[in-house]
Amino acid sequence: MRVKKAAGYAGAYVSDVSLVEMSADTKAELEAALFAHGVLFFRDQSLSAVQLRALALQFGEIESHPAYDEVEGAPGVQVLESTADAPTKIEKWHSDMTFTPRPPSLTFLHAQILPEWGGDTMWANTTAAFLALSEPVRAMLSGLNAVHDFSYGFQESIAEPGGYERLKGAIQDNPAQTHPLIRTHPVTQQKSLYVNELFTVKIADMGALESRALLDMLCAQVIVQEFTVRLNWEKNTLVIWDNRITQHKPINDYFPQHRRLHRVTVRGEQPA
Ligand code: SIN
Repeated sequence: MRVKKAAGYAGAYVSDVSLVEMSADTKAELEAALFAHGVLFFRDQSLSAVQLRALALQFGEIESHPAYDEVEGAPGVQVLESTADAPTKIEKWHSDMTFTPRPPSLTFLHAQILPEWGGDTMWANTTAAFLALSEPVRAMLSGLNAVHDFSYGFQESIAEPGGYERLKGAIQDNPAQTHPLIRTHPVTQQKSLYVNELFTVKIADMGALESRALLDMLCAQVIVQEFTVRLNWEKNTLVIWDNRITQHKPINDYFPQHRRLHRVTVRGEQPA
C-alpha cells in the first residue's frame, strides 16, 4: 500500500491496495494511515453500492441518516445528490451527525455523478486546530461541553414548504445532544476540537454572548487554511475520513450541474 501526503496537516492519497478483499494486515495499515492523516483519497475504485456497504461494514456498524434517501438494495448507503431542481443544502463545515449520542467514527464517500467542473470537497484537521491554540485558551476549554442539534443543522430544509412534515419524525427522534468541546480519539488519544458551525448551537453553561464569541473563534480556528486539504473528485474516487479528527465541507460552485455521491457512515462511540 502506498500512502502519499496530500497537504501539510490533512489528507493522503492511497494507492496499490485492494479494498474489496482486504486482509487484516491491510485493514490495520489503512486504519493507521487514516488516524495519521484524517482523510484518505483512493482513485479508480469501481464499487457498487453493495460493495461500498460491505467495505464500510468491515469497520463497524452502519448507521442510517434521518434525512437522506438510501440506495435500494443497499441499506445504509445514503444518496447525496444535488440537481438544478434540488440543489444541495450542505453548505457549512461540519463533522458528520454530531447531533447523535454516538456520532459516526468514519465516513465513506464514493463519487457517482460529477459536474464537469467544480464540486470539490475540503477537509480540515481538528487536532492541528486544537494544538495550535495557546495554552491559556486550551486550559479554559478543558471540561467545557457544547450542544449539537439536528433541527439547527437542518433548519433550512425544515423551513422549506413541506419540510417540517417531511422531517418531523427525524426532529422527534433526534433531541439535542451535549458533547465535550475537546474530545480524545479512542485509539490514538489525540485531542481535537469538537464543535462545528453546522450543528453546534451553543456552549453549555455560558451566556449567549460568551458562547457565540467562543464558538465563532473555535470554528474559525478549525478552518485555518494551513489545516485544510482540498480534493478534486474523479469518477470512482473513494474517500474515507475519521470524523473524530476532521471536519469537511463541499464547495458548492457547480450549479446547475448534477452531482451525486454514495455515502456510508460507521457508528462511533460516545465522544469523551
Ligand atoms: C458530506 O458533507 O458528507 C458531503 C460532502 C460532499 O458532498 O462533498
